[in-house]
Formats: sequence, C-alpha cells, structure tokens
Amino acid sequence: MKTKAEQKKTDSLATFRAKPKPQAKRTVKNGKPSNELVFSAYTEGNDSVFPRILGLYVKPGSVVADVTYGKGVFWRDVPEGAYQLRATDLQDGIDCRKLPYKDNELDCVVFDPPYMHTPGGSAHTVHNQFEDHYRNNSTGNRTNSKYHEAVLELYIEGGKEAHRVLRNRGVFIVKCQDEVCANRQRFTHVEIMAAYEKMGFVAEDLFVIVRNNRPGVSRVVQQVHARKNHSYFLVFWKSNNGKQRWEPPQ
Ligand SMILES: C[S@@+](CC[C@H](N)C(=O)[O-])C[C@H]1O[C@@H](n2cnc3c(N)ncnc32)[C@H](O)[C@@H]1O
Repeated sequence: MKTKAEQKKTDSLATFRAKPKPQAKRTVKNGKPSNELVFSAYTEGNDSVFPRILGLYVKPGSVVADVTYGKGVFWRDVPEGAYQLRATDLQDGIDCRKLPYKDNELDCVVFDPPYMHTPGGSAHTVHNQFEDHYRNNSTGNRTNSKYHEAVLELYIEGGKEAHRVLRNRGVFIVKCQDEVCANRQRFTHVEIMAAYEKMGFVAEDLFVIVRNNRPGVSRVVQQVHARKNHSYFLVFWKSNNGKQRWEPPQ
C-alpha cells in the first residue's frame, strides 16, 4: 500500500510522461527543401548544364565575365538579366590573358578556350577548327608552346588573369576536355587542377558532360586509347586564405 505522498509522486510522474515535450518546429536553412538536385554527370548539352552550375555556385545578380564567349551557347538558357554578364572573346579583340578589369573586381569568370591542338592532317581533320587559335597554324594566341603544351599554356595564362580579376571567394568555371596528343594520354583536367591550385584556387566541383552522339572518328588499324566522348566543367573559387571553406550563395 502506497502512502499519500508516494501516490502523489507516482501520479505526477505519470502526468509528466503522458505529456511529451512539444517538438521544436523543423527549420530549413536557405529556403524550401527540394529534391530537384544538380548532378555531377549529364548526357545533355552545355546550354542545359551550364545554367545548373551557375544556379548552384553563383548568386543571381553577380557580375560574371565570360571571357571566351564565342557564340554564347552557354547562356542560351540563362534567363536574361539574371546575372550582370560581361561577354568578351578574342574575336572581338579581348584576350583572356589581358582582361579590361581591375584586380578583385568580378564575382565569377567563365573560361572555355579551344581545348585541342593538333597539327591537322587526316587523323585530326575534326580538330582543325581549333587550329585557327594557335600561332603555329595561324595567328591569334601567340603561345610559346605547341600542341598540348599550347593548350595548357592558354589555360594557365588565362587562369592567372582570372585569379587577378576575381574577388576573394569569386568563382571560376572552366570547360575542358582531355586529349591524346602524340599517342600520349593527357588528362587535361588533372593538369589544370594542379596548376590552378598552385595559383590559389580551390577545386570545388567537377561535372562530366557525355556526348549523346558519336564523336567523329577516323579509321584506325589498332586502337590504342578510348575515343573520348566526354568533357568537363570544373568549378574553382579563389581563396585568399587556405583555411576558408566553400559557402554556397545565399
Ligand atoms: C570552344 S569556343 C567557346 C564557346 C563558347 N563557350 C560558347 O558557348 O559559344 C572557344 C572560344 O575561345 C575564343 N578564344 C580563343 N583564344 C582566346 C583568347 N586568347 N582570349 C579570348 N578568347 C579566346 C575563340 O575565339 C572561341 O570563341
């Protein structure tokens, strides 16, 4: 038999247990939850993937310089006015290695230079369009190197200039493709990452774009390497301090 005091204690415990604490309201940081995610590989065109990368990494309204604008394919599906776009190209007389911007001025630089360099000839006819951009076949880039080294040189010099004009935490979006040059496998994206990290960029993301049509091929007696049907978008950001971590745009 419980005393009155013991019974009171039991009752109050039961009451306490019966009333669960109201659950704290679930709060979601940075807006509504969504399962519309951006993925790391697509079999879609640059014009469909590029806006997703911009959306993930660059705040709307940011000043973005596309320094190899070409025909502006990247921007086809980006709503007009979403960013303050500065579009330039060597064809309009602006070299990506000497940009008309002040130090630390821009929020984002987009860079898609010609990424193959071959001397032409039967095995390489599909690449001939890239030749116009290099000194040893034509004019324009005045690189000191040839072939793959010329490609890398342009990526490196363009990267240095992008680093100069970007603000701290500014985003650098780079398009590239690996290539086999003189029968040697050249993983351009790895070489670029190593060079850019030395300059003070942090490599933050990598997107693979798989062609959904067959790349041009010439007949070969014995195939040595896989014929490439993919390219990359690499995302870097400028870090003035090695301890910083990437923070998504709010
Ligand atoms: C692969 S295309 C870029 C395509 C572009 N992203 C688009 O969406 O249409 C390469 C471009 O780089 C430009 N280019 C080559 N060398 C350059 C340089 N040194 N400075 C600036 N642009 C350059 C070429 O004129 C060409 O338009």
